Amino acid sequence: MTAIADVTNKTIHELVSLSGRTAVVTGGGRGLGKAIALRLAEAGANIIIGDREADLAEQAANDIRDKFGVDTIGTYMDVAKTETIKSMSTEAVAKFGCIDIWINNAGVFPCVPLEDMTDELWDEVLAINARGTFACAREAALCMNNTGQGGVIVNVASTAAFRGIMPGLSAYVASKHAVRGLTKQLALELAPSAIRVLGVAPTFCITEGNLLAMGSTDPADAKHIVAMFDSPLGRVGAPDDVARVVLFCASDLANFMTGSTLLVDAGDTI
Ligand SMILES: NC(=O)c1ccc[n+]([C@@H]2O[C@H](COP(=O)([O-])OP(=O)(O)OC[C@H]3O[C@@H](n4cnc5c(N)ncnc54)[C@H](O)[C@@H]3O)[C@@H](O)[C@H]2O)c1
Repeated sequence: MTAIADVTNKTIHELVSLSGRTAVVTGGGRGLGKAIALRLAEAGANIIIGDREADLAEQAANDIRDKFGVDTIGTYMDVAKTETIKSMSTEAVAKFGCIDIWINNAGVFPCVPLEDMTDELWDEVLAINARGTFACAREAALCMNNTGQGGVIVNVASTAAFRGIMPGLSAYVASKHAVRGLTKQLALELAPSAIRVLGVAPTFCITEGNLLAMGSTDPADAKHIVAMFDSPLGRVGAPDDVARVVLFCASDLANFMTGSTLLVDAGDTI
């Protein structure tokens, strides 16, 4: 068993810094994933963006390299296809030597009433959101165990991991409860290897995916929906609100935490 390091004597700068570390972000081509990748890169991490939209992955990787000067890879990967997870991690380890941080962010949220939800759509949502998180965490653990250095896995869940939300999200809510449960179990299984596993549970944030789900590409068009998500803290979430908490989880600031899923919800779930 490898005990987690005691970082009491590190400075704040050292605790936040991810310099010399390598981070994978699944679904990092846009939305929350891209915002997370940007903050991890700002803290000094080299970044691998895996996304089933290869163009988005490459563009995000280029943007991040240009902005922060870290090394990046942007590549096709579908979390529902295990062989593509393996190819991405093989490419990452060949370039960077190891993977220290793995953010399981890729997810889908189709809104279909129960009576119209097909077995196929249910299976697709669970294959991406739940099994994809499991398959990526398994790959992350294999990579981290190979170096013996430990690491951090952060699973992007949702407030839907704590409660039901609007009608039409049965598969989504089930999948995100699975992610929260998996986060606890993986934390126990991987603690002896000094691999921490945390969840982050955002409330509604304006992202490309959410706007498309509303039939829009313009945040201004979404005002009526946004009003439904007005929070106790008085505004709707932005991707960076979530990214900063993921950075906290991935950094040594959170080095004595594992197994929790942190609500990032401006008080919506109180
Ligand atoms: N935006 C929100 O309000 C919100 C709230 C709670 C939780 N979340 C969660 O955050 C995550 C990101 O959401 P978002 O709003 O940024 O979505 P988004 O649709 O804007 O971005 C998701 C990205 O993931 C990629 N992706 C989708 N399926 C994939 C797969 N099978 N393999 C690899 N990449 C895949 C997409 O191509 C896209 O680039 C999801 O897990 C979602 O459930 C979002």
